[in-house]
Amino acid sequence: MRAFVTGGTGLLGGNLIRLLADQGYQIKTLVRSAKKAETLFGGLNVEVITGDMMDIEPWAHHLKDCDVLFHTAAYFRETFRRGDHWTPLHKVNVTQTVRLFEYAEKYGVGKIIHTSTNATIRKRGDGRPSDESDRMDPDEALNLYGKSKVVGDQAIDKFLREHKTPVVTILPAWMFGPGDSAPTGSGQLVLNFLSRKLPGSFPSGIDVVDARDVALAMIKAAESSVGNERYIISGHYTNLEELFAILQRVSGVQGPSKKFPLPLVYLSTWINERIAVLRNKETDLSIEELRVMTEMKRTSGAKAVRNLKAAIRPLEDTLRDTVQWFRANGAKG
Ligand SMILES: NC(=O)c1ccc[n+]([C@@H]2O[C@H](COP(=O)([O-])OP(=O)(O)OC[C@H]3O[C@@H](n4cnc5c(N)ncnc54)[C@H](OP(=O)(O)O)[C@@H]3O)[C@@H](O)[C@H]2O)c1
Repeated sequence: MRAFVTGGTGLLGGNLIRLLADQGYQIKTLVRSAKKAETLFGGLNVEVITGDMMDIEPWAHHLKDCDVLFHTAAYFRETFRRGDHWTPLHKVNVTQTVRLFEYAEKYGVGKIIHTSTNATIRKRGDGRPSDESDRMDPDEALNLYGKSKVVGDQAIDKFLREHKTPVVTILPAWMFGPGDSAPTGSGQLVLNFLSRKLPGSFPSGIDVVDARDVALAMIKAAESSVGNERYIISGHYTNLEELFAILQRVSGVQGPSKKFPLPLVYLSTWINERIAVLRNKETDLSIEELRVMTEMKRTSGAKAVRNLKAAIRPLEDTLRDTVQWFRANGAKG
């Protein structure tokens, strides 16, 4: 099988490439930095295509002869502090994503596996875990990134009505894992833990998953007969206190013991954000991130376990491997 992977230098894309290589796939990957790609998977047999989602035309012809497109690249951070981010968010995560799919169809790609997020899923009022049917409207999203993914999912619905190439949409929970070179928000949390920068925990609740488990589910979706389906890939519902306890066990670093009440955390975060704006600096935690951490939304990955035989590893294994990867790549602590 020949696979084309966008976002090969990312947390998910990098793990996907390693798994595809293990399984004998021929791989092409789109990256913005060939140097970064060389550092991340220099030893693997991967054809590196340098290009940008902002401008697809120069490299789209590389999709020819590929059986499957795995689209993981995105304009992605849980929060954006300054400037206009909606324009690039919409361009990369909506307009150019659909354009990429149109090219995939034009060049005969048999199937598309797309990455959305469980941030597009609405929390249920009755406390039961939400599933793939609980789709948000754009204005319900907790941040601009989430909104771009909701709008992107709607654009994919339209693509599916007008085209014949099947698209499976994968909706991962908050991903942790080795190979988080950016780092993403989860990797930054682990790095802050290791360098003992975190003052304490607060009441929180969030679904997390190992990026490698998401990557394997994507491969299973590519290889199964399923067509236009959506799958949440969600591992464990957890909170900061539990994450810190596991990180302490697997790293040997003493975690923060203080527990702050939510109103105080919101107030101090709000004040820190105002001060940061005045000083033209960044804050470690934004109100938007806080909203996500404290939404206490559960999303069910049962459909993927049932239909794709998606497997979820213990959270402790994920965090141990994540810490090991960061230490092997120069993290202190
Ligand atoms: N991490 C999570 O918790 C999480 C949860 C749910 C869903 N997701 C989704 O999962 C997917 C993968 O995210 P990730 O966690 O792997 O994040 P990541 O590590 O930040 O990777 C994002 C990838 O997208 C690439 N990219 C960004 N803008 C691009 C552009 N204009 N053209 C080409 N490539 C571009 C990045 O390239 P560079 O290396 O050059 O920056 C990187 O390879 C995304 O679609 C994200 O929305 C992530």
